[in-house]
Amino acid sequence: MAKKDGKRYSCIECGYVSLVPSGKCPRCGAWGTLEEEIPVAPSMAAAGTAKILTPVDISTLEPPRRLASGFGELDRVLGGGWVPGGVVLLGGQPGIGKSTLLLQVCGHISSTGRRVLYISGEESPSQLGLRAKRLKILHDGLDVCCHTVIDDALALAKDHSLIVVDSVQAMRTSQAEGWPGTPTQVRATAQVCVNYAKEHGIPMVLVGHITKEGRIAGPMLLEHMVDAVVMFADDNSSVYRTLRASKNRYGGTDEMGIFEMRSDGLAEVPDPSYLYWNRSDGAVSGVVMTVIMEGSRPLVAEIQTLASESSFAYPKRAGIGLGANKIGMLLAVLQSRCALPSLRDDIYCNVAGGLEIHDPGADLALAASMASALTGRNVLSECCLIGEVGLAGEVRPVSGLAQRLREAARLGFKRAVVSSREEKPRLDAEIELIRVLSVGEALARASVVEP
Ligand SMILES: Nc1ncnc2c1ncn2[C@@H]1O[C@H](COP(=O)(O)OP(=O)(O)OP(=O)(O)O)[C@@H](O)[C@H]1O
Ligand SMILES: [Mg+2]
Ligand SMILES: [Zn+2]
Repeated sequence: MAKKDGKRYSCIECGYVSLVPSGKCPRCGAWGTLEEEIPVAPSMAAAGTAKILTPVDISTLEPPRRLASGFGELDRVLGGGWVPGGVVLLGGQPGIGKSTLLLQVCGHISSTGRRVLYISGEESPSQLGLRAKRLKILHDGLDVCCHTVIDDALALAKDHSLIVVDSVQAMRTSQAEGWPGTPTQVRATAQVCVNYAKEHGIPMVLVGHITKEGRIAGPMLLEHMVDAVVMFADDNSSVYRTLRASKNRYGGTDEMGIFEMRSDGLAEVPDPSYLYWNRSDGAVSGVVMTVIMEGSRPLVAEIQTLASESSFAYPKRAGIGLGANKIGMLLAVLQSRCALPSLRDDIYCNVAGGLEIHDPGADLALAASMASALTGRNVLSECCLIGEVGLAGEVRPVSGLAQRLREAARLGFKRAVVSSREEKPRLDAEIELIRVLSVGEALARASVVEP
């Protein structure tokens, strides 16, 4: 029931709506995040412009012509480039390289003879100039505007093919009250941008800072308003950066883009499989290779396990880049289906290179890695293991096996352990397939346990 004054307060962190002001959000427990909601301004669209579209109407509409960013990695994450009228929120920790990435994108687009508008509320013209010089992106058509009032800055936009707003927290709009960075201003600024993009059919990028918790400040406010949310992160590495979409109205969210930070800016990583693979010469027990799918791209991943005698009542199980539940489940499978008990061992699992694995196709390799650490026997040389593992210890087929095997063969693997429940993939690549039904069989064939 709304109170008489009709005011609503919403939490900028979690979106909780309250009818009374409060210092602490009852849902997420954050302090000072409840702000009064400002009623939505009257719609800009003229009355009587709504119309009905039939299936024929919408199916004969031309698909939007996407604008390439100049980075294949970024285009793939976006679903094929910038979409006219689409608004993308780019989030990431301070200093991760958001401005660098977008300046380089602007540089590329302007080098193709188009015009782009880079609105910066954070840097001075001289700072931007220095950076643009270092990135070598000073082309005609790169228009820069250092200003913090979004309405004024957008009034300068004309025939631009892309507009960047760096950052949404640094800008304010004359259409709302408050300091820049406050929820009211952030929301109103984003709304001004979204309206502008839709009205003019221009793609826009908003840079958003993220909070300590790793979310974009005011996430509930912004994430709903924009068409895509893309996060730039460092994957625990100093030079490599990964780009992922957490929301995308124009494409999937399972693609990952990989960049390297260099002194002359960000560069695409041509062969990312090598990033996550140590290629250690001598085989080591507990180290097993697999090929996972990151979106549509196969990536070689190296899983490492260390088992050591536990001094705790409950042995420790820890994983970096792997879920603890998965580790626990596969240890249980090893114990019950393969007679490999681990109750006296602390188990530490890690994925090399800071990669995070969510692909169940890595199950078999993880199981083999733990088994290898427990038995002390090395896995067969030049061999990778690909397969999902079920509770009965069965090895299940995975998606994209042919692609994974091709990648493994390309990188020099001679053999792969896969599920025999899977049709033999057609391959032009040379790689021996070791087809197995169960984890036990896989471990024996990969020489992790005595055959
Ligand atoms: N002169 C330089 N030479 C080499 N690398 C540099 C130089 N200046 C900055 N960098 C790199 O660029 C990074 C900063 O990138 P950038 O300013 O694009 O990040 P950002 O995400 O926009 O940060 P912010 O949130 O502060 O705006 C630095 O962390 C550093 O790695
Ligand atoms: Mg910046
Ligand atoms: Zn909250």
